Amino acid sequence: MKQLNEFERIPLGIFPTPIHKLEHISKKLHTNVFVKRDDLTGLGLGGNKVRKLEFLLADAKRQGAQVVFTTGGAQSNHAMLTAAAAGKVGLKPILILKKRGVTERLGNQLLEHLMGTEVRFMDTDDYADIYAEMDRVGQMLGVPYYKIPCGGSNALGSLGYVDCAREIREQGMHFDHIVCAEGSGGTMAGMALGAKLFLPGTKVHGMMVDTDPFDQITPALMREAAALLEAGVEIGPKDYHLADMCGPGYAIPSQEGNEAISMMAKEEGIFLDPVYTGKAFAGLVKMAAEGAFRETDNVLFLHSGGAGGLFAVL
Ligand SMILES: Cc1ncc(COP(=O)(O)O)c(C=O)c1O
Repeated sequence: MKQLNEFERIPLGIFPTPIHKLEHISKKLHTNVFVKRDDLTGLGLGGNKVRKLEFLLADAKRQGAQVVFTTGGAQSNHAMLTAAAAGKVGLKPILILKKRGVTERLGNQLLEHLMGTEVRFMDTDDYADIYAEMDRVGQMLGVPYYKIPCGGSNALGSLGYVDCAREIREQGMHFDHIVCAEGSGGTMAGMALGAKLFLPGTKVHGMMVDTDPFDQITPALMREAAALLEAGVEIGPKDYHLADMCGPGYAIPSQEGNEAISMMAKEEGIFLDPVYTGKAFAGLVKMAAEGAFRETDNVLFLHSGGAGGLFAVL
C-alpha cells in the first residue's frame, strides 16, 4: 500500500485538529461523546474541505493550472473554501454555482465578495451543465484550468479524510463510533476507508443531508480511493453505515437539526450549521436515543465546519 505522504499536498490548514470531550452532552446522552474540531482547520472559517483541498490544489499546481473551477449550491462552504485556498496558493478561483439557495450577499456569498471571487450562477439542477460551462469558460480564457467536482468529492479529495482517520489514530484514543455528515460523499468515504485501514473496531456513520444515492456513491468512492492507495482491501456494506437525516430537503433546515444546533450551542458553546453538522449531530442524538451506543462507548462527532451557512440559511 502507498503511504499518504507519497501524494503531493499543499499545506493549507492547521493539523492535527483537537479532539475533546463534550461533558454536558455526554451526560445527557448517557455515553461518552467527543468532538473532532475540523471546524478549526485554520483557513477561511475552517471546515472539512481544507483537508481535501490540500490534495486537490497540489494536483492542480502539478498540472500547471492557472484557474481553478468548482461548483456547489449558492451557499456552498466547499466553493467558498476553494476560493480562499486557491487565492492563498496563487491560483485564480472561478465559482460556477447552482442558482439554488440564498444568492444574496449573505453567509458564504458575503465571504466570496470579501475575497473578490468571480462567482457565476447557473439556473440548472444538473451538474453536467455546470462542468460543460467550466470547459466553455476555461477554453474562452485560454489558460490551463483545473476542475474540482462538487464538494471536492473524488478519490483524490477523499484522501483528506483517510488522512484524518490516520490523524485520529495518532491522537491516541480508541473510538467505538465516528459520526459525520454526508453531503457529496468524500468525507464519509474517506473516513470509512481510513477507519478500515487505521482504526480497527471503529464504526463510521454517515448522516445523509442530501437525497443522492449515497448507498452507491459511498462504496464507489471508497473503492476508488482504496485503488489510488493501492490498499488491496475489499469494501463491503459492513464498512460503513448510512442514515437519512436530510429532513425537508438539502439545505432546508430540519426541526431535529435546529434542536441539535441549540443543544450544542447551549451545552458546549460550539456552533453547528443548519445544512450539514446540525443535521449530522441530530443523527447522533437520535442514535443515542435508540440505544445504539453503550454507556462505556466513545463516540466521536466530526464537526466539519459550515459556519458561513449559519448566517444565511437558518
Ligand atoms: C460543513 C460541511 N460539513 C460536511 C460536508 C459534507 O462533506 P462531503 O461533501 O464530503 O460529503 C460539507 C460539504 O458538503 C460541509 O460544507
